[in-house]
Amino acid sequence: MSPTTAPIAQYLADYRPYPFLLDLTELRFDLAPRGTRVQSALHLRPRDPAAAEDLVLDGGAGLRLIGLALDGTAIPAPRREGERLVIAAADLPARPFVLSCEVEIDPDANTAFEGLYLSGGMFCTQCEAEGFRHITFYPDRPDVMAPFRVTIRSDLPVLLSNGNPVRREAGLAEWHDPWPKPAYLFALVAGDLVVISDRYTTASGRAVDLNVWVRPGDQDRAGYAMESLVRAMRWDEEVYGREYDLDVFNIVAVDDFNMGAMENKGLNIFNSKLVLASPETATDADYERIEAVIAHEYFHNWTGNRITCRDWFQLCLKEGLTVFRDQQFTSDLRSAPVKRIEDVRALRARQFREDQGPLAHPVRPDRYEEINNFYTATVYEKGAEVIGMLRRLVGDAAYARALDLYFDRHDGEAATIEDWLRVFEDTTGRDLAQFKRWYTDAGTPHLEMTEIWEAGSDGGRLTLDFRQHTPPTPGQDDKPPRVIPIAVGLIGPNGDEVAGTRTLEMTEARQSFTFEGLGARPVVSALRGFSAPVILSRQIDDATRAFLLAHDTDPFARWEAGRDLAISALLAAAQGRAAAGDHVEAIGRLAADEAADPAFRALCLTLPGEEEIAARLAAGGAVPDPDAIHAAREDLARQVAEAHAALLSDLYDAMAVPGAYSPDAGPAGRRALRIAALGLLTRIDGGDRAEVLFGTAGNMTERMAALSCLIRRGRGQAALAALRDRFADNRLVMDKWFSVQVTAAPPDRAAAIARDLAERPDFDWKNPNRFRALLGGLAANHAGFHAADGAGYDFTADWLMRMDAANPQIAARMSTAFETWPRYDAARRGLAQAALRRMAAMEGISRNLREMVSRMIA
Ligand code: ARG
Ligand code: ZN
Repeated sequence: MSPTTAPIAQYLADYRPYPFLLDLTELRFDLAPRGTRVQSALHLRPRDPAAAEDLVLDGGAGLRLIGLALDGTAIPAPRREGERLVIAAADLPARPFVLSCEVEIDPDANTAFEGLYLSGGMFCTQCEAEGFRHITFYPDRPDVMAPFRVTIRSDLPVLLSNGNPVRREAGLAEWHDPWPKPAYLFALVAGDLVVISDRYTTASGRAVDLNVWVRPGDQDRAGYAMESLVRAMRWDEEVYGREYDLDVFNIVAVDDFNMGAMENKGLNIFNSKLVLASPETATDADYERIEAVIAHEYFHNWTGNRITCRDWFQLCLKEGLTVFRDQQFTSDLRSAPVKRIEDVRALRARQFREDQGPLAHPVRPDRYEEINNFYTATVYEKGAEVIGMLRRLVGDAAYARALDLYFDRHDGEAATIEDWLRVFEDTTGRDLAQFKRWYTDAGTPHLEMTEIWEAGSDGGRLTLDFRQHTPPTPGQDDKPPRVIPIAVGLIGPNGDEVAGTRTLEMTEARQSFTFEGLGARPVVSALRGFSAPVILSRQIDDATRAFLLAHDTDPFARWEAGRDLAISALLAAAQGRAAAGDHVEAIGRLAADEAADPAFRALCLTLPGEEEIAARLAAGGAVPDPDAIHAAREDLARQVAEAHAALLSDLYDAMAVPGAYSPDAGPAGRRALRIAALGLLTRIDGGDRAEVLFGTAGNMTERMAALSCLIRRGRGQAALAALRDRFADNRLVMDKWFSVQVTAAPPDRAAAIARDLAERPDFDWKNPNRFRALLGGLAANHAGFHAADGAGYDFTADWLMRMDAANPQIAARMSTAFETWPRYDAARRGLAQAALRRMAAMEGISRNLREMVSRMIA
């Protein structure tokens, strides 16, 4: 992070094993906010005693070296290479030895929240990816694994680390983690915390103490996290045959956290917003996310911890698989179709966007400057899609066998994508060389489908002709064809399915598939379940889309047909053409369909977002106009509301959920439909219903929805004041309060509103959640961020520069607000580039932000 170091890229091709093996890591912490002492004893031995190799330890800027010794003999002046410590081969014995080291660090000064830091008086750690080197000198790489023995000295009442507790006395706690792990999975927590506890017995009878640790006063909001943990533990036993492997599982909630959560062995640390929930403070979406992330981190115990990554290029090995597993979990516990639609929406909004811009990179990158910049939608969400395709191609049973083999073969190892694919090859006999391109090649394939119908006396014949093409991405011009699983079904003219879902396996740049013996020309339902992360285009009119919306048996394809109808209307309007009324009509029929799940109907009623419309226009070669898109979407929403006012009003009343709040999928789905109706009705009732709902709602889901509607109608002031008065002390609710004012602001005022909010004393910008609430809120207001005068760009750049000096990870991550700049008009492009250049020229810019900005400018 130092300003003088030139960019140094890391390359996958340069991998070589660490020349030493680590048999045990002993750590001792004497905690103090300004001067924590860390003593370490690393029990090392040469991998090859005949090869004389230097011992290189990673270090960070904040380490003050107090002493270093080899088998008890001091090494007075060890060599420093940048932030690394090097002990020459000549000074090392060709047998096992113990390297002891003492350093002092300053957790209180750590505003980057990487390594050991303080959050509201509590000590905690974040070591993935390369945070441990800010705690002490160490081989900080995922393929160096060791059991840990940790002693913590502090007068704070709660002292936690990984593994099992082995000793506790006044001012001291000792923990032992028997499972060899890399340093990125190390964790330590010390503070004045309260706990809610439960106990779980694994399938083989191991009793596990479960604890969720929170700040005093928060314990009433930790119950849902605990319930979610128990559900996740059971599910992983039932579905993957994976049991927990320690006597205790601790979860800690912390207010200052760069990401969502972290799977440290036996001691998961969470952003408090992914633990704390009550009906009064959290929305249905928050509950669903808490359940999913608790499960995600728990699932990492096997996919991440027991089997970890050889190097950080393999990040998707644990993240793609663990996201895939948490998606399966949510599908099983809630509604599988609704979950699939939500996941595809998120994939398109975040990953397709990434793939289509200057930050595109493969699921397994082969080069990086700062690994924290690669915790992306591509590695996580596309990484999960790739596993979904693999499962579809080999079938559920073979997938299960391959996973068993994976756990068997690689338990205790640091593995690669090659290892992962090999278990599938060995299980099924398939050659996955072409499939591997999904890992190595960036970019979203475009898939074009053409239908050829030939009527005949012995039945008609339908040929589907597909062409695939992947546009170039940075550093990758030519993209050979990929394996694309295309799930297809055929629907007869009367609406009955004539051919159930079948997966076509496309491997060529152009390939046809034929269906014979058809009575009449069917309607093709293509890419069912979103069987591959591609952009499908086909010749289809709105009447056929409306037919699919009415009759498709595949819920995803059905929703997609409705969404395509909406997009077609919106694209016409955003480009000044008249739209046919098919969407308005078809959507009304679906909203009225009482046989359909309310959550599904809510998804169908929700219009595509402005960012999605802009992306579609850009993909088709047009230049999106943010203001025209905003106006077109508002207009379509009003048309839908006017056409179906009575129906929407009935739905709004009928979907009210009586009785006590439950975050379960059933009632949450009813609320989702109710809110979708409210959003449309607000366009024609001036916000009257929203005002009543805001005053009477007994849960945060409806209260926030009502508030957002009121702000959109320009009458949010009283409600905002009421929310602030009631929840001024609740950081998570106040984050929502900051965010909604900007996301729902009129585009031409959004940046100014954000600027005013940033002046408030409670805009505690060093808190990542608060910063994200405001800056992320503006980025989510498409026409506001891209305001023609550049105010959105300037405000964002100003704050990213300020944040970069305190917390480079957050600044770099939020800079992705700019990643779509090349798609807009020349004036906006000029303004966005100027903002990017201003950041690039900043003195002392971090490696994190510098890499992001230079990729975006290039
Ligand atoms: N492994 C964590 C998860 O997926 C994410 C931690 C990422 N941290 C970071 N600083 N990049 O749950
Ligand atoms: Zn993860």
